[in-house]
Amino acid sequence: MSILVTGGAGFIGSHTVVELQNAGYEAVVLDNLSNSSKKSLERVETITGKVITFYENDINDRAALQKIFKTEKITACIHFAGLKAVGESVNKPWEYYQNNIAGTLVLVDEMRKNGIKNLIFSSSATVYGDPAFIPITESCPKGICTNPYGWTKSMLEQILTDIQTADPEWNIILLRYFNPIGAHKSGTIGEDPNGLPNNLMPFITQVAVGKLPELGIFGNDYDTPDGTGVRDYIHVVDLADGHVKALKKIDEKCGLEIYNLGTGTGYSVLDIISNFEKVTGIKIPYTIKPRRSGDIASCYANADKAKTELGWKAKYGISEMCADAWNWQSKNPEGYQ
Ligand code: NAD
Ligand code: WQD
Repeated sequence: MSILVTGGAGFIGSHTVVELQNAGYEAVVLDNLSNSSKKSLERVETITGKVITFYENDINDRAALQKIFKTEKITACIHFAGLKAVGESVNKPWEYYQNNIAGTLVLVDEMRKNGIKNLIFSSSATVYGDPAFIPITESCPKGICTNPYGWTKSMLEQILTDIQTADPEWNIILLRYFNPIGAHKSGTIGEDPNGLPNNLMPFITQVAVGKLPELGIFGNDYDTPDGTGVRDYIHVVDLADGHVKALKKIDEKCGLEIYNLGTGTGYSVLDIISNFEKVTGIKIPYTIKPRRSGDIASCYANADKAKTELGWKAKYGISEMCADAWNWQSKNPEGYQ
């Protein structure tokens, strides 16, 4: 049984390919390498000892998709491919809507033309906007997104829901990720952002490895226990495992389902720094900066639905997330370069 993994060379995709191969699935990866390196896939092959069929193509390329669906025995698609930089999306909205939304429409069209109607989509807790309540359940109303990237996820959720309603042969699972961090235990694959990291953990690891002088904390006057932003950080290997569990749910012909993938525990920025320092013994210098536009105070999941219906629960805690992120960064100070 082959699974098409779009964006499979990226951070979450590469970790998911490991878990897929370990679970006995054949992985076919399609990635245009716009934000990743082919080396990640070579390293996945070393971890699992299994071969990955790789297509260096774009999800907007119909001819490439047709070739893949004719050549490979694809039964389902896990769709990670997309642009994800929040700030960049504010300056390049057309590029984000074109790549993420138009690209997904092409992918889904070619899937249905080839009779493949099983899809797992990478969504995000960003669709909740400033959440109406926390911990956030899947029935929490979707909110106002603060950037075009977030809107691509919110709109694609609606588009995919409408497609499944019109044609109930589709099985579509929308996975709303909280804040994925960490890396595979081997330290050979991990997060490799281009330029200055936008996200907290890669920023911290780059300070720790000496590439950046200090961390800026975006605000310490939020309505949280220590004033800094609280998030639900989840180990990327747990997240990857969630996709394997979701594939099993698709085998049951689940129709349209939505699951939060988080741990259910919120940590502040200062909590993350102190846990990282404790695990690694490295001091992270920081200064308090103004709030970052679009940030919210607190965001963490109620992930009970995934536990009950998928049999999935995060196994790794914050110490392992910090240790594994550092293991990757310290072994690969320049990422995949
Ligand atoms: P990533 O950038 O590491 O991986 C995305 C991959 O998609 C990259 O390898 C990139 O080259 C590829 N890609 C982009 N556009 C493409 C296109 N048009 N055709 C083919 N390949 C294309 O990002 P990630 O962190 O692994 O995220 C994977 C998915 O999960 C994304 O859809 C992202 O929006 C979503 N997500 C990520 C987070 C997070 O914090 N990392 C949180 C929630 C949701
Ligand atoms: C976490 C906390 C920051 C960097 C983003 C996207 C979201 C999703 C996950 C894709 C916040 C603080 C950060 C820094 C800091 N991605 N921070 N200094 O903003 O929760 O979510 O990634 O879907 O859509 O918005 O994650 O890691 O950027 O920030 O103080 O240099 O760390 O203010 O409180 P965020 P993050």
